[in-house]
Amino acid sequence: MSVNYDGGHMLAPDQLLTTTRAVRNRLDLSRPVDSSLIEECLRIALQAPSRANVQPWHWIVVTDPRQRAAVGSWYTRAWRERFEANPDRYPAAAIRSARHLADHIADVPVLVIPCLELEALELPTGNQASLWGSLLPAVWSYMLAARARGLGTAWTTVHLAYEREVSAVLDLPGHIRQAALIPTAHAIGTAFRPARRRPLETVLHLDRWSRSDGGRTEQEGLSAR
Ligand SMILES: Cc1cc2nc3c(=O)[nH]c(=O)nc-3n(C[C@H](O)[C@H](O)[C@H](O)COP(=O)(O)O)c2cc1C
Repeated sequence: MSVNYDGGHMLAPDQLLTTTRAVRNRLDLSRPVDSSLIEECLRIALQAPSRANVQPWHWIVVTDPRQRAAVGSWYTRAWRERFEANPDRYPAAAIRSARHLADHIADVPVLVIPCLELEALELPTGNQASLWGSLLPAVWSYMLAARARGLGTAWTTVHLAYEREVSAVLDLPGHIRQAALIPTAHAIGTAFRPARRRPLETVLHLDRWSRSDGGRTEQEGLSAR
């Protein structure tokens, strides 16, 4: 039985939903994670919705150090190629944190790789919302359940530049596609704060699309329109 906590206090649902952050610097790399804790989080994740309740998901939990090193090397390579080539594209703090994770990914005790089972060998053309939408809510549930148990996670995808290579490491058949890689470890400290986000007023549309710029730059609220 685990506790839903933040520094020893129970986390209310809204608090859990607003303080589940991408944890990179505060992953405890020296503390093993009990496999039963991961299983608990995954059982909760399996309660997520999927199209027609098909549940087209598989979860690869990587803990073997050699497998972590093999997967991690592709992650690090992809991250360096993508971000070090464009260091000015993201805020410095975000880059520092992401670099820290990229440098230590193989040391994270658990790497969870949620996968989508396709009906064919190729992803279909056209809108794939119902396909990925049948897996991604479960991934977020996993991360919330982990946070509720004092674990830190981060949603990552950069390694997908080398999806084929990582699939080979994991022996994944061709119809199994990776959606993300979720490093999971005990969090160092449990207090996390809500993040700054684009204000609701700049992304909310009532009844129809109402801004020509998609709401990215206009700051006025609904009341000003
Ligand atoms: C689809 C997706 C892909 C992401 N890929 C990466 C990644 O490859 N590496 C990484 O360090 N963070 C990655 N992130 C984490 C985001 O950078 C992070 O969620 C965002 O900066 C907001 O931070 P917060 O979750 O702490 O609020 C990804 C997040 C999402 C949702």
